[in-house]
Amino acid sequence: MATVFLNDTFLPAEQAKVSVYDRGFLFGDGVYEVIPVYGRQPFRLKAHLSRLQNSLDGIHLSNPFDDAHWTQLITQLIEHNEGENQAVYLQVTRGVAPREHVFPQGVKPTVFMMSNPLNAVPSSYKTQGIKAITVDDIRWQRCDIKAIALLPNTMLRQQAHEQGAGEAILIRDGVMTEGSASNSYAVFDGVIYTAAKDNTVLPGITRDFVLELAAMTGIPVREESVTADRLTQADEIWISSSTRELLPVTTLDDKPVDQGLPGPIWQTVNELYQRHKLEMNV
Ligand code: PDD
Repeated sequence: MATVFLNDTFLPAEQAKVSVYDRGFLFGDGVYEVIPVYGRQPFRLKAHLSRLQNSLDGIHLSNPFDDAHWTQLITQLIEHNEGENQAVYLQVTRGVAPREHVFPQGVKPTVFMMSNPLNAVPSSYKTQGIKAITVDDIRWQRCDIKAIALLPNTMLRQQAHEQGAGEAILIRDGVMTEGSASNSYAVFDGVIYTAAKDNTVLPGITRDFVLELAAMTGIPVREESVTADRLTQADEIWISSSTRELLPVTTLDDKPVDQGLPGPIWQTVNELYQRHKLEMNV
């Protein structure tokens, strides 16, 4: 049975209960992180905790714990659960209060954490690549905050799923922002393009790692937007996230991306990814 953490206690998942007055439940008023764990070690925990702080600052909620305490709790959660590779999910909501839009004062935030197995993606995703569709980015203006309110993301991902695709690539004002649950990239003439870190994208921890690997091997990167029109001409398209790592998109809107196979730049960066993900854990 999985062990979770809720409000200062580790307990079996079945026994963890949250009030119906929790603002996470009523308003989606909270933020979250997903941290991959390789060989029982959380990957880039410092960066995840720093992004958590930015998300909390973005919604004006004070951090219930300092980094040392988070680290201790996450380490314990991993110990309580099975599996060498896990995905730690943590969320902080504004807590339990009578339903009122204005933020309540003096309320203890609700802290919930669970850890699920981090399953390797099916090998065909890497040999064949995945399908994606482009959709209108209907999300809010603060996509840099990792908010638990993910209704637009789930709707867009569902739309992709119903069309047999593994990701929805979002287009806002004519340019690619990111995926519904990933950052996205396009390669033109050996140069990797990905959206700059602004309010239209989540600053992905995997994205940082991918850009470090590209720099290591001398592949140029431009943090610039790519128009939806230009995207149709890309040599390669990729997505990245903590749970899916780096995947090639080989079909976009039912058309092959270049030859319709994972491209050479993806092969190079993915190989480095697999080689370095254990030791480049800062
Ligand atoms: N999501 N952009 C969005 C909208 C995301 O939801 C995610 C990850 C990313 C990639 O961020 P990172 O590399 O730090 O995982 C980008 C997680 C995995 C999720 O919601 O499950």
